[in-house]
Amino acid sequence: MNITQLQEQIMKLKKEKDFCVLAHSYQAHEILEVADYTGDSYKLSVDAEKVENKNILMCGVRFMAETCKILSPEKNVYLAQPTAGCAMADQMDREYISKVKQQYPDYTVVAYINTTAQLKTICDVCVTSSSAVKIVNNIENKNILFIPDCNLGAYVAEQCSDKNIKLLNGGCPIHAGVNTDEVKAAKAAYPNALLLVHPECIPEVAKMADYVGSTSGIMDFAVKSDCKEFIIGTEISIAEHLQYMCPDKKFHILSQKLICPSMKVTTLADVYNCLISNGGEKIELDAQTIKDAKKCIDEMIRLG
Ligand code: 13P
Ligand code: SF4
Repeated sequence: MNITQLQEQIMKLKKEKDFCVLAHSYQAHEILEVADYTGDSYKLSVDAEKVENKNILMCGVRFMAETCKILSPEKNVYLAQPTAGCAMADQMDREYISKVKQQYPDYTVVAYINTTAQLKTICDVCVTSSSAVKIVNNIENKNILFIPDCNLGAYVAEQCSDKNIKLLNGGCPIHAGVNTDEVKAAKAAYPNALLLVHPECIPEVAKMADYVGSTSGIMDFAVKSDCKEFIIGTEISIAEHLQYMCPDKKFHILSQKLICPSMKVTTLADVYNCLISNGGEKIELDAQTIKDAKKCIDEMIRLG
């Protein structure tokens, strides 16, 4: 089957089998085209709660499917490609953070949503890159232990200067791999372009940007801007999607390193296989994990 035939089959099977397909914006264009909801991790977590279908298929990475299950425990949630982990989410586990917490008993533990369900059970509040600054500002406690991303954490600390923010040594190897020499080279190659970067990039790179924001923040900025040319400092699929959305503008990739293998591992054929023969992986979380992890996601929605 070619792409169009696969897409037609997927649209038919979604209806027949009562599936809703969610796709993170880092997924390939042909997957976004068959999704019912697309967006960044915050938008998907809110959309997931509204879904009425019995079955949810997540095209993204494992922590996103777990978040759906936590918010909709009565539904069957499937991860389209079982190998789609997130290198950052896998960096810190519950045992390690339990020990760190003992050193910081008066701190509110703020977890980036890119964490496992197990780890969320011992955190106080979740944030996404689009909500982190607002949520940290809304937390009463001055002392914040921000995990796992030290780059997003440093960005938040700069925006919330009255908070005492403790960071650990975690982060996204894809975004954090971009260096200032690459930024200088891109700016020299495209002198009229604005540079838009994700806060998972290192602070030295973020400081050189015209705009720092989440995936959806970057997309909104580029769509609404009067400027006609941009260098995109996040996963390369965002430049591709923007080019479809704004054919009159030019989008350049900041670095060829900005390819997330975990996000790229899901294919349209995986989506089809999940629907035709229960492929993918059904997410199973026990009731206690769901209850405890939900507290910090509910706090995110309350404070965000
Ligand atoms: P967003 O929160 O912007 O969707 O980012 C998720 C992610 O994994 C970025 O690398
Ligand atoms: Fe995880 Fe980084 Fe990939 Fe985002 S880009 S899913 S943080 S590894």
